[in-house]
Order: sequence, then structure tokens, then C-alpha cells
Amino acid sequence: MRTLLVVSGGDAPGVNAALYHYTRAAALNGDEVFGAIGAFEGLLQEQLKPLSPQELDPVVGQGGSYLPSSREPVLKEASNCERLKGVLERHCIDNLVLFGGDGTLSNLAAILQSLNIACLGIPATIDNDVPGSELTLGFASACSMAQQMIDGLRATARALPGRAFAVEVLGGHTGFLALDIAYAAGADAVLIPEYAYDLGRIAKRLQDAARTYRYGLVIYSEGIGDSQRFTQAMHAHGLHVRSSKLGHAQRGAPPVHQDRKLAADMALLAYHTLQQGARQGTVLVQQGKVRFLRTTVATLPRRLPERSLYERVNGLPAAPRENTR
Ligand code: F6P
Repeated sequence: MRTLLVVSGGDAPGVNAALYHYTRAAALNGDEVFGAIGAFEGLLQEQLKPLSPQELDPVVGQGGSYLPSSREPVLKEASNCERLKGVLERHCIDNLVLFGGDGTLSNLAAILQSLNIACLGIPATIDNDVPGSELTLGFASACSMAQQMIDGLRATARALPGRAFAVEVLGGHTGFLALDIAYAAGADAVLIPEYAYDLGRIAKRLQDAARTYRYGLVIYSEGIGDSQRFTQAMHAHGLHVRSSKLGHAQRGAPPVHQDRKLAADMALLAYHTLQQGARQGTVLVQQGKVRFLRTTVATLPRRLPERSLYERVNGLPAAPRENTR
């Protein structure tokens, strides 16, 4: 069997570990593994190379992706789809393993299916927003990195009391990342795109926290859109706000143990499933277990961040926003 590993869209901590585990399992069974250089954009230029576990060994514990990724939507063009088929045929590729987030697994996996290219998807994104999967590769590491950075903020916040610290985290148009981080950090408030929020009440919670605990802490997802409006509103309520953006450093976090284990579980299940002849499907986490589902995630319902957690962090009932996808 000759399998091509493709990393598409935003990289995620743990992807390198998954590339390693897949390649190692395949090598042990005499199967061949190739890697796409620059995802589908690179593949159209025949940018692929053989992979070995020895080559991947040094990057197992590193964030990012050993295989360069791309966000270029090249497969939207029918002529590129035909070119891709030609490349795969010329290199005698039997099947693909596709690593990516919601966009990659909902759109690209469906295109590959329509081209009758055998492909298994592995949800890999710090956003944790892939339909049908309770967890995605990289989420735990991004949360862990955020907690370390927030610990730094807490130290300086305690030292100069009376202020509020607003922390913007990644997450795309979703709030899974912000909510988990806020809850675990014991933040006084969290703002995410999926649920409505009342700026006046958030300001009051931050003021109370600044009085009681020396400082207030609010986490918000980049997906809420106008973050400046939010911080200006906090200032207008008399709060001394200091803002920080965790940004892409979160995505480049070193993979924590949980992500490395998930990487191994997902990669090995993908390998054995392909070995048994599967041609389509996705490896997902459901009810705490890594499973294989014979479908692309495009057909699965979208998830929402846990409402009860949102209510607990903010101390108020949450109402769905109209623009919730
Ligand atoms: O991969 C997901 C993600 O990290 C989102 O959290 C974020 O909004 C986006 O990618 C950033 O993308 P880019 O690296 O293209 O700026």
C-alpha cells in the first residue's frame, strides 16, 4: 500500500507525532508512505516525497507541521482536480490521509470523495470545531500553552492590583478554545461568538473581581469580531483594562501528552482502517474513544460550545446569538 499524508489549512500541535506514528506503523508492515509538500497546491506541482519514521523521529515533540501546509483552495477548479488525479496515478498512490480542521475535512474530503480518491480524514485543529468529534488534535496543547501565558499575566496582575486583564485567544469563528481556557483559568468572564453577552454585566464582574481578588480576568475568542469595541466598552465602564493577544504562538505550542496519545490513536486507527480496504471516512473522538466513521464530516451536525460551561464562567444564563452557524 502506498499512502500519501497531506496536512491542509492551519497546522496543529500533535500533527508531527501523528505523521510519525502512521509512518512507523506502515514501515513495520512494509507499506510505503509519502508526504505532500504544501498540501494540494504543492501536489499539483508534483511536490511529494517518501517519508520514513527515522526522518520524522526528531520532530515528534515539536509543534507546527513537518509537511508544509497550504490554504489555497486549488481543488475548487475542476481542471486542478483532474491534474491531481494524474499526479496520484503517476506516483501509484493508493490512498490519502488528510489532516485538517473543519474547512479541510468538510470541503476537501468531500471533493476527494466525489473524485473517487480514497481518503481518510483526521481532525487536526486547535479550534476543536470539527463536526462529529468531541476533540481534535492540537486543542489540548493550545489550551495548555494559553494557561502558561495566563499564569504570567496573573503574576503581574496580582503585583499591581485593581486592573482587568483581557486575553484574546484564537479559535476562528468559534469559541471552543476560549471557553475551555476561560473555565480552566477561573476567568471572571468569557466572550464567544456562539452566545450573547452583556457588556455591562461583564464590566461589573470584572470590577467586583478586581476588588476581591486584586484583578479581573476575561478571555475572549477572536471570533467575537470587534475586540476594540469590547475593550473600549470596558474602559468606558471605568475599568483599567490591559489587553493581550495570545495569537499564533498558541498554534505552535509543543504537543502535550494528551495530544501525542491522541495522535498515536488516530494515526494507528487510520492506518489499520486503510489496510482493511476502507476508501472513505473520518477518524473521530466520540464518547471519549477514537473511532472510525464511514463518512466525511460534511454530513454531520455542527457542535456548539457547552452552554452550561459558558453560563458557569459568566455567572449568567446564555441565549443563542442569531448569527450562530
Ligand atoms: O487553524 C485554525 C486557526 O489557527 C484559527 O484559530 C485562526 O483563526 C486561523 O487558523 C488563523 O489562520 P492563519 O494562520 O491563516 O492566520
